[in-house]
Amino acid sequence: MRELLARDLERARVRTLRLTDLDEPELVRQHDPLMSPLVWDLAHIGQQEDLWLLRGGNAGEPGLLPPDVEQLYDAFKHRRSDRPSLPLLPPVRARSFCTEVRGRVLDRLERADEERLFPYGMVVQHEQQHDETMLAALQLRQGPPVLGPGTALPSGRPLRLAPVGDEAGAGGLQRWRSALSDSCLVPASEFVLGVDLAHEPFSLDNERPAHVVHVPAFRIGRVPVTNAQWREFIADGGYQQPRWWSGRGWQHRVSTGVSAPMSWLPDGSRVRFGLIEDVPPDEPVQHVSYFEAQAFAAWAGARLPTEVEWEKACAWDPVAGQRRRWPWGSAEPTAELANLGGDALRPASVGAYPAGASAYGVEQLIGEVWEWTSSPFVAYPGFSPMLYDTYSSPFFGGDFRVLRGGSWAVAPSTVRPSFRNWDLPVRRQIFTGLRLAWDA
Ligand code: AVJ
Ligand code: FE
Repeated sequence: MRELLARDLERARVRTLRLTDLDEPELVRQHDPLMSPLVWDLAHIGQQEDLWLLRGGNAGEPGLLPPDVEQLYDAFKHRRSDRPSLPLLPPVRARSFCTEVRGRVLDRLERADEERLFPYGMVVQHEQQHDETMLAALQLRQGPPVLGPGTALPSGRPLRLAPVGDEAGAGGLQRWRSALSDSCLVPASEFVLGVDLAHEPFSLDNERPAHVVHVPAFRIGRVPVTNAQWREFIADGGYQQPRWWSGRGWQHRVSTGVSAPMSWLPDGSRVRFGLIEDVPPDEPVQHVSYFEAQAFAAWAGARLPTEVEWEKACAWDPVAGQRRRWPWGSAEPTAELANLGGDALRPASVGAYPAGASAYGVEQLIGEVWEWTSSPFVAYPGFSPMLYDTYSSPFFGGDFRVLRGGSWAVAPSTVRPSFRNWDLPVRRQIFTGLRLAWDA
């Protein structure tokens, strides 16, 4: 396990350094008030590693940075919008600080007790999460591309997502009921929601404890909602009709004037990491808010899944009567099973990963886009905070909705069927999409 963790720490660092291998002004500038300057994320990664791994979380103990510098990287003290005006470490110093911390961490890891490795896995996930955050900042950045087009992905396969025969030409609802043929039935049954450390040693506190819940029958989309489907929503006046929107959602729609996913241009193209390209019809839609996702689902005669439904569709094996480690089984993710890791810089077309289907036949649950669920972010019964005790609990019971499955930008070590992400219902700068669900 120690070797695996050392390898994962190294992988995360290679990625962090690649994402911050930019000219100083690019690292210091704030690309959007929603995001930190990249140089803040960089030093914050090192500061958290110092705190959790070199000082066991004891903030009273001196770290490698003087206290007045260290506090600059406290996410609760300084809001993202304020971070560019802080006297942050310049990129060269931030990098050497991270390297210094890492050297000491690797020494400790070699001598660490096999029973006490959780904090290392936690810190790997923290760094990988900030790598995804930096990608979201780079997507908001103006100017010529700095990341290139991304690596190749498997092609999709035809699915019956569009109306056929008599269904064509009918109104929106009629048309979208045809999407039922591309949904999977999940019959009613009990299932085990969440995990325990015994089975998932690096699960974070909010995924625990495992507990039995009864889930009524439902149907869920075989694949996430695509750009072509989103276009139909736009063409049918979806953004103009309050009847599809929640009260709050409509208010937000009107006050912001949003009329398409973030980064779409009026001529049918989009901006992706500075590149202008046609919106690919068969790719899962991304950069939509919870409010938009909810309106789309209502228009389609569907709803968003709850997080419980989502996790059952992803992880439950009804024949074995137990959870699977991954939707497809126990094999670790590969390039044939899921789009993960961030190198593609985009989701794969729907139908690209038939081998990654869950026991119920649901595809592309892990990777691609974070999927909005209708569930507010709350603690599971019996919740107990982990070492980093302000990771989850300050956010329980707020105005956050749970997102599931991870995006193309998450690392395999940082996502699981039980993994719970959360964000405010107006947010769409992260790689968010949706999947439809229906009562059955
Ligand atoms: C779990 C993605 C909501 O970015 O706010 C990083 C992860 N927490 N550092 C966030 C996190 C502290 C967190 N999310
Ligand atoms: Fe953080």
